[in-house]
Amino acid sequence: MPVVKFLEYVEEHQNDFVERLRKAVAIPSVSGDPAHRQDVFRMADFLIDELKALGASVETRDPGQQDFHGQTLPLPPIVLATVGNDPAKKTILVYGHYDVQPALIEDGWATDPFTLVEDDQHRLIGRGSTDDKGPVLGWINVVEAHKKMGLELPVNLKFCLEGMEESGSEGLDPIIYSEADKYFRDVDAVCISDNYWLGTTKPCLTYGLRGVSYFHLTVKGPRADLHSGVFGGTVHEPMTDLFALMSKLVTPDGKILVPGIYDQVRQVTDEEQKTYDHLAFKMEELHDAVGNKINIHESIRDTLQHRWRFPSLSLHGVEGAFYNPGDKTVVPARVVGKFSIRTVPDMEPEKVTELVKKYVTDEFNKLNSKNSMTIECTHGGNHWLSSPQHPNYVAAAKAVEKVFSVKPDLTREGGSIPVTLSFQEALKKNVLLLPMGRGDDGAHSINEKLDRSNYVSGTKLLGTYLYEVSQVQL
Ligand code: BES
Ligand code: ZN
Repeated sequence: MPVVKFLEYVEEHQNDFVERLRKAVAIPSVSGDPAHRQDVFRMADFLIDELKALGASVETRDPGQQDFHGQTLPLPPIVLATVGNDPAKKTILVYGHYDVQPALIEDGWATDPFTLVEDDQHRLIGRGSTDDKGPVLGWINVVEAHKKMGLELPVNLKFCLEGMEESGSEGLDPIIYSEADKYFRDVDAVCISDNYWLGTTKPCLTYGLRGVSYFHLTVKGPRADLHSGVFGGTVHEPMTDLFALMSKLVTPDGKILVPGIYDQVRQVTDEEQKTYDHLAFKMEELHDAVGNKINIHESIRDTLQHRWRFPSLSLHGVEGAFYNPGDKTVVPARVVGKFSIRTVPDMEPEKVTELVKKYVTDEFNKLNSKNSMTIECTHGGNHWLSSPQHPNYVAAAKAVEKVFSVKPDLTREGGSIPVTLSFQEALKKNVLLLPMGRGDDGAHSINEKLDRSNYVSGTKLLGTYLYEVSQVQL
């Protein structure tokens, strides 16, 4: 049986796969930092070389240029690779991203973030290990196993890999739409491995994501920074106005204060309530992942509902504020408050922006400040919800049962992968999220890791899914 040979190859060659991940992690492809843009390009080249060496036919698309605060930067390529072109087979599209979040040892990493380290518990630690280099390489490992064993893949496999996901996927959507009837023409279903198990023990399939709307709230007053001893008490201070406004966005227990924001949120049905029972998740796992017992909600159901299916508003930072150690008696002239709202069905991003702008403007007017205020939505992506009854999910569930001998949990996520919805809408095909890593991997955080067993079984899962999906009617 080809699938058995495939599984044996993966088990026996896992050290080669770890070496592949080591090489990938060593390239600091941080898309949000202009100083690393060439590394993002190097990471694309690395993947192109790996894919070509395995016989894939590789093309790239150029998303153009990015205006990064007045600096023009080239955008890294969209890597499109095809393995197999048999009209009798189904075509599965896989998406992943090869850029990573920033990481500095000073942030508190125990080891150099761009040197893959395997600890005594067989955790592969390094930036991008779980988000999203491990999963991307998982697909490449599947191709390698087939090539080396002289096996044909059960489907035609198409890759779409981008290098700007962590920075809002700039330039990708137009390419998806313009290639919908070209490169993506024969795609029958889509699979994305860019999220995580709910906990640490049980695999899951994911059928929902929250959307995100990101805002910049700018308050300006003086021509330049002022001395607080000379001007304090005599002028309206931008930071004072900003804090007054930011404090009116959300309560400490997570309730969003923007009027009307909850009006579009879909009601929880009795049927949905039942889906939260029996999920492999404990409050202790939340405590462990957070590193403290600071949960707002006491029950698993409330916690998961507030992560998955209710909106949340987070305050992220203040540009222009004094933040160094020590005491500087400055009055900053211009400050930009950053916050975002995670959105859920049936919220519409345009409506969210309208409500936020109106509320912040009304509240600013109440301050009677002579400073000026502007608020804009800088980027956004809509929420996404699929149906776990779709044959694409049924196939993936069978693959989980074969590899892990357990039925997967069906989960949603609180994070966002805006391209998921783009694929669904542009290609009109089902999209499945099939995670590789665990809920405690620490994506975006320090000491990000992917357990060796998740990397190896995850590679087995991705390959087995291709066999199962080749058998269903899509
Ligand atoms: N891999 C994550 C998406 C994710 C986050 C899935 C949390 C599951 C749980 C992805 O790399 C990411 O971080 N996306 C951004 C998107 C944003 C920049 C539009 C996010 O969610 O903040
Ligand atoms: Zn990711």
